[in-house]
Amino acid sequence: MEQKLRVGILGATGMVGQRFIALLENHPWFEVVTVAASPRSAGKTYEEAVGGRWKMTTPMPEAVKNLIVHNVNEVEAVAETVDFVFSAVDMTKDEIKAIEEAYAKTETPVVSNNSAHRWTPDVPMVVPEINADHFDVIADQKKRLGTTRGFIAVKPNCSIQSYAPCLAAWQEFEPKEVVATTYQAISGAGKTFKDWPEMEGNIIPFIGGEEEKSEQEPLRVLGKVENGEIVKASLPKITCQCVRVPVLNGHTAAVFINFEKKPTKEQLIEKLVNFKGFPQEAELPSAPKQFIQYLEEDNRPQVTMDVDYENGMGVSIGRLREDSMFDFKFIGLSHNTVRGAAGGAVLCAEALTAKGYIKAK
Ligand SMILES: NC(=O)c1ccc[n+]([C@@H]2O[C@H](COP(=O)([O-])OP(=O)(O)OC[C@H]3O[C@@H](n4cnc5c(N)ncnc54)[C@H](OP(=O)(O)O)[C@@H]3O)[C@@H](O)[C@H]2O)c1
Repeated sequence: MEQKLRVGILGATGMVGQRFIALLENHPWFEVVTVAASPRSAGKTYEEAVGGRWKMTTPMPEAVKNLIVHNVNEVEAVAETVDFVFSAVDMTKDEIKAIEEAYAKTETPVVSNNSAHRWTPDVPMVVPEINADHFDVIADQKKRLGTTRGFIAVKPNCSIQSYAPCLAAWQEFEPKEVVATTYQAISGAGKTFKDWPEMEGNIIPFIGGEEEKSEQEPLRVLGKVENGEIVKASLPKITCQCVRVPVLNGHTAAVFINFEKKPTKEQLIEKLVNFKGFPQEAELPSAPKQFIQYLEEDNRPQVTMDVDYENGMGVSIGRLREDSMFDFKFIGLSHNTVRGAAGGAVLCAEALTAKGYIKAK
């Protein structure tokens, strides 16, 4: 790319916003030129606004320290400085819906980490290895919004990334019933142990709204575009429990599965390790070379050993074995703030750029 695309980050001071800043440092296609957050942070330098809240393990990039934070609500002022934005603001669902549409209507593409638009019929919700073809629906969305280049694309919830890729890899065996329990890291709530000490040695059996997302969102990702809308798949039936555990980064899933056409264990592993999609074919900058790794050891995947597989963009699967009640069971692990949040959105933006949906203004 001759000239890097100019990127704005809405919600840049938060946990996911900081992850965007960290991931985009030295990105070959994108350059962060604008940061925006709540009116509380507006007018300060990024370094002042974040203050002691920097939660990444790498230092704050020099290039963003002195950027003056914009107010997210001043849409025109932000939009005129950028080619597209990533959205990671924490506002009410209705406020997020409205503000993301307002940005799209300024002809600024929005790649969102938020859940607000995940069920808007003409908004694609994409894991680029699985359903990059859903970007086709953007043409219909632009007609609705009355835009030529502005649109919204979203990525799904972090909780599904540890098992939904397996369901995609195993489509030919027709998964029909899935029982999943997710063991979710505290960074998924925007927290570290410093600001959530009650989580040390603790488990909380409730994460608001998460079980419904974990049950429903894989069906939309596995769905198809029909008459200008995404129509969700009807199978597999998924039931899920989501539990918060004392882990900083990394969502683990323990999964039972029944198939219409029961495969062998060897067939399942072969499908996992060979599963690839548009990011690998187009060699996108953030694409994992191998999306899914299968680990043979009985004690893998482990959060501390495997969460950073493929720079946090890959998914680790292990303990696949036959079950006494279901056909098979297995354990999955993915990085919730990289693949599950900012990294997944960066990969979507790279796919959208490679497909010509995002261009310099
Ligand atoms: N953490 C994860 O792993 C994860 C994963 C998937 C999805 N998400 C979703 O991503 C979003 C951000 O999550 P997070 O964990 O990064 O949250 P966070 O750390 O609380 O950050 C929230 C960001 O939104 C801004 N903000 C808050 N209230 C605002 C307002 N009224 N108007 C404008 N901006 C406002 C904050 O700005 P100030 O600093 O100025 O307050 C900050 O930049 C949430 O919707 C969350 O549900 C998070």
